[in-house]
Amino acid sequence: MRIVICDSAQDATARTAARLVTQVQAKPDSVLGLATGGTMEAVYPHLVAAHRGGLSFANVTSFNLDEYVGLGPDHPQSYAHYMRHHLFDHVDLAPSRYFLPDGLAPPKEASDAYEDLILAHGPIDLQLLGLGHNGHIGFNEPGSSLTSLTREKALSHKTIDANSRFFSSDEAMPHSAVTMGIGTISRGKSIVLLALGDGKAQAVHAMVEGPVSAFCPASALQMHRDVTVFLDPDAAVQLELRDHYLHAETIQRRREAERQP
Ligand code: GLP
Repeated sequence: MRIVICDSAQDATARTAARLVTQVQAKPDSVLGLATGGTMEAVYPHLVAAHRGGLSFANVTSFNLDEYVGLGPDHPQSYAHYMRHHLFDHVDLAPSRYFLPDGLAPPKEASDAYEDLILAHGPIDLQLLGLGHNGHIGFNEPGSSLTSLTREKALSHKTIDANSRFFSSDEAMPHSAVTMGIGTISRGKSIVLLALGDGKAQAVHAMVEGPVSAFCPASALQMHRDVTVFLDPDAAVQLELRDHYLHAETIQRRREAERQP
């Protein structure tokens, strides 16, 4: 895992977005894995700005991590709506090229169909991830099998508490979602994860320095060959090897600078 402790949340966000931009520049027909959540709301404007600056997404294919069970694409709290609002409506990515699980289909059918679709179009070149307060990725809550495929998962109370802020008080929040599994996510060639704020510090520590365990689903990323974790200083406060990551990153950046023509 490459652990990049950035100077600020803005810096971490910009560097995460830059990875996506570089990926599409280098391979215009990239298959991207995309994520939702509050943290990602600041990432997508960078992609929209890159598009306005000339970057085309016309040949990209994208797969989102998850969708709430019971919410159709026009529901304002659906992740399909979120993605159109933050990204898809502002770039040249045709609706036929972006995919999310179908929140209205029977969950088992929606899950199997989504897994097959990813296999047919994949592998995902670059998978974007956020991090739940309890260490979830996608909606793979603690206890998830570390080799799981796309399926319905019940949301934990912690996740329902965290995400209910997006729903109005008279609106029932779904209690389950169809999510790519940890095995599905792990098939991505490269993974970039963004976590910000001290509320994520404990999960970041467990993900990076804890044992590989279903108790912290994100810890499965320790087994992946190409993961970059972008953090702001607050999200990094519980890392025991914080100084080492900073040191290693200084060397990494020096090597990158040397490779520049
Ligand atoms: C949701 C999403 C995750 C996301 C997480 C963190 O539960 N399913 O993919 O990483 O929220 O969200 P936030 O960035 O709002 O803390």
